[in-house]
Amino acid sequence: MKVTLEILRYDPATDKAPHWESYEADVDPMDRVLDALHHVKWYTDGTLAFRRSCAHAVCGSDAMVINGENRLACQLLIKDASPEKPIKVEPIRGLAVEKDLIVDMEPFFDSYRSILPYLMHDGPEPDKEIYQSPEDRERFDDTTKCILCACCTTSCPIYWGSGSYVGPAAIVNAHRFIFDSRDDHADERLAILAEKSGVFRCRTAFNCTEACPREIKVTQAIQEVKREILYRSL
Ligand code: SF4
Ligand code: F3S
Ligand code: FES
Repeated sequence: MKVTLEILRYDPATDKAPHWESYEADVDPMDRVLDALHHVKWYTDGTLAFRRSCAHAVCGSDAMVINGENRLACQLLIKDASPEKPIKVEPIRGLAVEKDLIVDMEPFFDSYRSILPYLMHDGPEPDKEIYQSPEDRERFDDTTKCILCACCTTSCPIYWGSGSYVGPAAIVNAHRFIFDSRDDHADERLAILAEKSGVFRCRTAFNCTEACPREIKVTQAIQEVKREILYRSL
């Protein structure tokens, strides 16, 4: 079948402003939107720029706004993208466009790094793996699923409006370590998230939860971190 893609194009080196361009692509209804973008890039216009790697919703590199919603292009099937109408594709919002569908992810990763996203275990180096019960592992199971795609953070109206909000993805990844029984530095992360750029900027808009391609309960994780800060009186 033939589909029309309307893509918001922008090359800061040559364009004064972003503009829409329309392309036709020959695809199967069971193809993904990523396949249609490849069709355009390989057969029509090689200058089209977008990120992708795994093509299987694992690497998190091809988040974009498709028909107004944050989606992974490799996850959304053509048949589910209202192909009878032009499929509109734009870069994710709240991060500077570098070219076409490629945005500058550095501010997103700066926020991620700020919450110390790694296990910190005090005391002597253990000589075997640290025991964790299935129940303790379950406590943070949902937030281990994050692939750092930025669909959540770039769908959050608070993030769009404030360059200083750490954003839901960073909180999800803090949650993953705060509630890990093997980690000894939850207080440090909670203190970072209690600052004015942290969790209390969230106004429970729920866009993040709706946008997450891994179906992580993002807003719930944020609420759990807020409660933990209040419980520990940080
Ligand atoms: Fe992507 Fe979900 Fe992780 Fe947010 S929480 S970065 S939407 S996988
Ligand atoms: Fe934003 Fe999600 Fe909170 S969309 S306001 S981080 S619930
Ligand atoms: Fe890896 Fe889509 S290309 S998540």
